[in-house]
Amino acid sequence: MTRRTRLYAGLCSAYLLLTAAQGIHGLPRFEDLKEAFVDSVKSIVPRSFAGQALQRRQQSNSTNSTSETDVWILADEYSGHTFFDDWKFFTGADPTNGLVEYVLLQLNSMRTNEFDEFITSSYVDQDTAFSEGLAYVDDNNTVIMKGDNTSWVNIGDTRKSVRIESNKYWNGGLFLLDLNRAPWGCAVWPAFWTLGALATWPTAGEIDILEGVHDNIHNHVAWHTNPGCVLTETGNYTGTVDQTDCNANINDNSGCGISDWSRVSYGESFDAQGGGVYAMLWDETGIAIWYFYRVSIPQDIQDGDPKPKTWSMPSASLAPEGCDPFQYFANHSIVFDITFCGDWAGNSYATTPGCPGTCAERLQDPANFINASWSINSLKIYTKESLQGTVVSAGHATSSPHSSMLLTAVVGLLMLLALC
Ligand SMILES: *[C@@H]1O[C@H](CO)[C@@H](O)[C@H](O)[C@H]1NC(C)=O
Ligand SMILES: *[C@@H]1O[C@H](CO)[C@@H](O)[C@H](O)[C@H]1NC(C)=O
Ligand SMILES: *[C@@H]1O[C@H](CO)[C@@H](O)[C@H](O)[C@H]1NC(C)=O
Ligand SMILES: *[C@@H]1O[C@H](CO)[C@@H](O)[C@H](O)[C@H]1NC(C)=O
Ligand SMILES: *[C@@H]1O[C@H](CO)[C@@H](O)[C@H](O)[C@H]1NC(C)=O
Ligand SMILES: *[C@@H]1O[C@H](CO)[C@@H](O)[C@H](O)[C@H]1NC(C)=O
Ligand SMILES: *[C@@H]1O[C@H](CO)[C@@H](O)[C@H](O)[C@H]1NC(C)=O
Repeated sequence: MTRRTRLYAGLCSAYLLLTAAQGIHGLPRFEDLKEAFVDSVKSIVPRSFAGQALQRRQQSNSTNSTSETDVWILADEYSGHTFFDDWKFFTGADPTNGLVEYVLLQLNSMRTNEFDEFITSSYVDQDTAFSEGLAYVDDNNTVIMKGDNTSWVNIGDTRKSVRIESNKYWNGGLFLLDLNRAPWGCAVWPAFWTLGALATWPTAGEIDILEGVHDNIHNHVAWHTNPGCVLTETGNYTGTVDQTDCNANINDNSGCGISDWSRVSYGESFDAQGGGVYAMLWDETGIAIWYFYRVSIPQDIQDGDPKPKTWSMPSASLAPEGCDPFQYFANHSIVFDITFCGDWAGNSYATTPGCPGTCAERLQDPANFINASWSINSLKIYTKESLQGTVVSAGHATSSPHSSMLLTAVVGLLMLLALC
């Protein structure tokens, strides 16, 4: 035993003795101390501590005497008037061939990824974009991104819209999007998704969390990867599988997908009941997506202390047995977009009963796009710290003094737990 462990052992025995003695008042129990420790961990982790690769945990037998405690720590929050501060505004031609013109809200250097080949110069500048009201934060701190619903366009022309991509990228995490409305309507094709930002698509994967077209009512979750990643057909999820091979290069690039069972997970009814929370959990247990409608959002989410292990079964899940979540997915940035027609909404238009005429005709009248709008309360990203076994801190390239404080504190507690 080193001097320090003797000290811990001493402290530990003293505590156990004292707390065992019922007569002594004012002394916190060990469980309370543990709780307080967890709280203090949360409080010393700053928002800028954007966790990257949470290394997969190594199990250690020596510390298996306590139950595992995962703590999800807020790493980043996008909301209100600072929402738009840390995104790139994509201004190229639509990679999915939509009749859309993405407008530029910030002058950024173009990203170097698979979309470069599609980039054209069809965009307007920042001032034009904001003055056209396609992206703004309203009086209630609600973030709005929308398709243009004021201009008429000629047949075959594009309609203006917005596509943003986070500057930060993640390797794992818990992503919580609280939104009131998502875009929908004939010819409309929105998505909230993540994309491997540093490699040629689909090498670093794509996770489609919220996506649909036209008057769909069921959200469609999908994963697009290199060959070798497979969705298990019977899994711990409530949705319906449509494709099991996630290989993005086959089946018209459709990837593997699951439709949400809920009839309010997309479209008119989604908006009518106030949206809700979409959650995407990406860790060593796989990649899972939940949809909680407005009145069923778990209290732990509302409290900012998410505990995904306590949630009901997810709508969709890609299990690690069929697909390694860190081999096929890496360095993901977050994307919101609204496109029109194109590969999905265009090709499916004629076979969608509720949508009149052709997609290009539908695009002409701005009144057809009053519901093509995101209304977002917040997007929060949490990263996991596991207070059991060997804890490896989030491996972001820029390690802050706070993260080493955190690590020291975690190691301290683990020693205490191990000894007690
Ligand atoms: C944990 O225990 C199992 C079974 O006794 C053993 O095979 C394994 O090597 C141990 N792991 C560690 C990290 O000690
Ligand atoms: C460790 O804990 C897990 C769950 O808490 C339990 O299933 C497992 O049997 C334990 N292993 C040992 C070696 O005690
Ligand atoms: C802000 O919220 C209030 C109360 O819910 C609502 O009446 C009002 O219409 C909202 N304002 C905007 C711009 O959405
Ligand atoms: C992820 O990012 C790291 C660090 O920049 C890089 O070394 C790695 O190649 C990237 N992986 C993929 C699949 O993009
Ligand atoms: C479903 O979850 C249970 C409990 O976590 C697990 O034992 C089982 O293997 C899972 N089934 C599938 C098909 O992933
Ligand atoms: C927009 O939404 C409203 C309310 O659900 C609906 O009545 C209307 O038909 C929709 N309009 C379009 C163009 O989608
Ligand atoms: C455009 O859509 C917004 C809702 O996103 C609505 O408030 C506004 O009245 C619409 N404008 C027109 C001209 O229809």
